[in-house]
Amino acid sequence: MEHLGAEPLDVEHRGFPADVIPLQYQALLLTDERRMGAFQRAIAHAVRPGMRVLDLGAGTGVLSFFAASQGATVTAVEREPRVFATAQAALRAAVGDAVRILHADARDYLPEEPVDVVLCEMLHVGLLRERQIEVINSFKRRYLRHVGGPLPRFVPEACVQAVQPVEQDFTYCGYTVPAPVFQLPESTQPRTVEAAPPQVFQQFFYQDPLPGRCGADLRFVAERPATVNAARIVTKNLLALTYEPPGSIDWTMNYLVVPLREPVEVLTGDEVRLRFDYCPGDEIPVLADSLEADVLAHAR
Ligand SMILES: C[S@@+](CC[C@H](N)C(=O)[O-])C[C@H]1O[C@@H](n2cnc3c(N)ncnc32)[C@H](O)[C@@H]1O
Repeated sequence: MEHLGAEPLDVEHRGFPADVIPLQYQALLLTDERRMGAFQRAIAHAVRPGMRVLDLGAGTGVLSFFAASQGATVTAVEREPRVFATAQAALRAAVGDAVRILHADARDYLPEEPVDVVLCEMLHVGLLRERQIEVINSFKRRYLRHVGGPLPRFVPEACVQAVQPVEQDFTYCGYTVPAPVFQLPESTQPRTVEAAPPQVFQQFFYQDPLPGRCGADLRFVAERPATVNAARIVTKNLLALTYEPPGSIDWTMNYLVVPLREPVEVLTGDEVRLRFDYCPGDEIPVLADSLEADVLAHAR
C-alpha cells in the first residue's frame, strides 16, 4: 500500500517493545495511590528482616525500596536502560547497598541462592500486553531445576479475572468511536450501563501452574434492557493473603471496556453469551477480535 506524505508506523519497533515501560511513563505508576498503597501494605506483610527478595521488572525500584525498608536484602532486575540507570541511582540514595539492581532480562535471570519472596509487577488489566505470566513461568521452571524447591512466595500471590456485558457510550461531542476505554474502579461510570453483573472467568495462584490462555464462554441473564456493545474486563490482583484475620491485600486494576464488533439488543431476563480467547501478553486487539456476544434465549 502506498502512503503519501507519511511512513507507516511500526510502534513495536520505534524504540520500545510494548512490555517495556519507558521512564516518562513510570511516574504514572508512582502516582497511582491505590497501586502504591496496596503494594506497600502487601510487602510490609510478606517481607521480614533478613529475607532475600527478588524484584523482577523493577522499574524505578519502588517495590525494592519497600522490601529493603522491611530489612530485606533485595536483587532487582530491569531491562530498559534509562529506567535501570535511574533506579540504580535512586535506590543507592534511598537504601545504600541493601538493593543490588541488575540491567538484565527477567526471563533469563536466575538467583544463585534461594530467595524468600519474588516481587513481580509486570501487570496489565486482562493480563494483556505485559509479560507477567511468561516471566514467572520462566522463573519457576529454572528455579526448580537449578535451585530446587520450595518455590518462594510471590507478590502478587493470586489473580482473579471477571467479565460483564455492558452498554458503553462511545459518542464524544457527537462523534462515535468504539475504541477500548480504561475506567477507574472506584468511580461511577455515567457512560456505562451494566447489562448483567460480572462473572469470574479465571483465577489462579502464582505458585500453581499458570494459565496458557485467558478465555471465557459465559452466559449472563440481562438485568435491564440494553444494547450490549462491549465487554468490561476486571482484573483483581491478590497481592498478599493474610491469615489473621483471613483476607487479602488487593489491587484491582483499572477496568478495560472492549467494544464488540457486533452489538446485540437484550431485554430484561434475556440470556446473553459472551466469548473470547487470547494468550497472556497479547495486545488488546487480539482480545477484541475474538470477542463475540449472542442472545441465547429471550425472556418470556
Ligand atoms: C509495570 S512496570 C512496574 C515497575 C515497578 N515494578 C513498579 O511496580 O513500579 C514493569 C517494568 O518491567 C520492565 N520489564 C518489562 N519486561 C522486562 C523483562 N523482560 N525483564 C526486565 N524488566 C522488564 C519494564 O521496563 C517496566 O519497568
